Amino acid sequence: MGIKFQWLGHSAFDMHIDGHSVVFDPFLTGNPLAATTPEMLSPELILLSHAHGDHLGDTVAIAQASGAPVVANVEISKWLFEHGVKNAQGQNSGGLGDYGFVTVKLTIAFHSSSFPDGSYGGNPNGFIVTARESGQRLYFAGDTALFSDMALIGDERIDVAFLPIGDYYTMGTADSIRAIKYIRPRFVVPMHYNTAPPISQDASGWANRVSNETSAVPIVLDPGGEFSVPRVV
Ligand code: NI
Ligand code: MN
Repeated sequence: MGIKFQWLGHSAFDMHIDGHSVVFDPFLTGNPLAATTPEMLSPELILLSHAHGDHLGDTVAIAQASGAPVVANVEISKWLFEHGVKNAQGQNSGGLGDYGFVTVKLTIAFHSSSFPDGSYGGNPNGFIVTARESGQRLYFAGDTALFSDMALIGDERIDVAFLPIGDYYTMGTADSIRAIKYIRPRFVVPMHYNTAPPISQDASGWANRVSNETSAVPIVLDPGGEFSVPRVV
């Protein structure tokens, strides 16, 4: 079945991976671009890249309502457990976790990570997620600067990459083009832009650059928009 996803605004996605719902960085309450509400989501797995409020978002409520495990770093999983989430999986950078229908490897990300209450959120991460049945693979970068070791992530053969393009807090459009050249994905999806004035971007101008300067196909969605990653033919 492969990977299908809906952009929920900012860095929040509801992905269907071989038919299983996986929610990423579910910042919905207070997100002006939010395409859904926490009550509408019923994931089997939740992935949280770091502790900042615009990623942590509604994680606790969604995890409690769904019972879905939350995959994050050790410090975040401990914080979640202390805040009433029963099943938090504390991985760390470079480690692979097996969740049945997917494996999830935590990648490095160059950013920071603290909770809205000021407590320490460990190191920020990205994710390499591999669908067991279809074999399709995604890279969700989280919040990060450009780094040249993205080439190592590219060596893993990425079908679709999710990259921040907003600038100011993360890499911007120009560095995202350099990132795509390292990662070499078949498809690339922009995130973490247009949520607030400091991160406003021209996504269609970005898409033109991706098409002209890289081998990836840009997928620009409106909040709520969906895309299915086609098989390699
Ligand atoms: Ni952040
Ligand atoms: Mn952020």
